[in-house]
Amino acid sequence: MVPMQPPFPFVPGEYRVRLAEAAWERAQCTALRRAVFCDEQRVFVGSDRDDIDAAALPIAAIACTAGMPDQVVGTVRIHETAAGEWFGSRLAVHRDLRGVAWIGTELIRHAVGTARARGCTRFLAHVQSQNATLFHRLAWQTLREIDLHGRPHHLMAADLSAYPHRSRTDVAVFPVARRAA
Ligand SMILES: CC(C)(COP(=O)(O)OP(=O)(O)OC[C@H]1O[C@@H](n2cnc3c(N)ncnc32)[C@H](O)[C@@H]1OP(=O)(O)O)[C@@H](O)C(=O)NCCC(=O)NCCS
Repeated sequence: MVPMQPPFPFVPGEYRVRLAEAAWERAQCTALRRAVFCDEQRVFVGSDRDDIDAAALPIAAIACTAGMPDQVVGTVRIHETAAGEWFGSRLAVHRDLRGVAWIGTELIRHAVGTARARGCTRFLAHVQSQNATLFHRLAWQTLREIDLHGRPHHLMAADLSAYPHRSRTDVAVFPVARRAA
């Protein structure tokens, strides 16, 4: 089955990363997650939504067209699991835009910075093992390796000193040059 993501024929030159509050942003986050975790990776069947979504804060990376936010191309969600302890999950970037625009990196920065601004003292994630190197480079450490959803994962913790607070109204805007072929 072909993943249900409209193709991106070009690399947009500007992105915004922010809490997804508008209905269209949340709907596109949900659609992107389904495309990545159901259609592409086949980790879930039909929907990857779960009880955590009721409490989690979704974050969106939005590609701009002519300077205006236009399409969600990346997402992650964060939620508090105990006093001060937060988890990030469902990190996903449109497959046509991976490795070319720092979208995943900026989503991770926004996720941890947003949680810090809300009192986070420990930030954890179950990271698919193939992505552990990306997180190590961003000042995360592996606590242990585990199997989750039938796939190898690292339980990882962020070094919070590497992540400045980001308030609710913070929007990261980053222009990008395409990676040389
Ligand atoms: C994991 C994932 C979210 C990463 O997103 P991403 O947008 O590709 O991440 P980034 O672009 O920030 O970083 C990826 C690589 O591209 C490089 N890169 C990004 N933009 C670049 C640019 N303009 N020029 C040169 N290199 C660039 C980064 O250095 C990094 O290199 P590395 O592979 O050596 O670490 C994405 O691959 C994805 O959605 N995977 C499928 C879903 C998934 O596995 N989710 C589970 C996450 S635990």
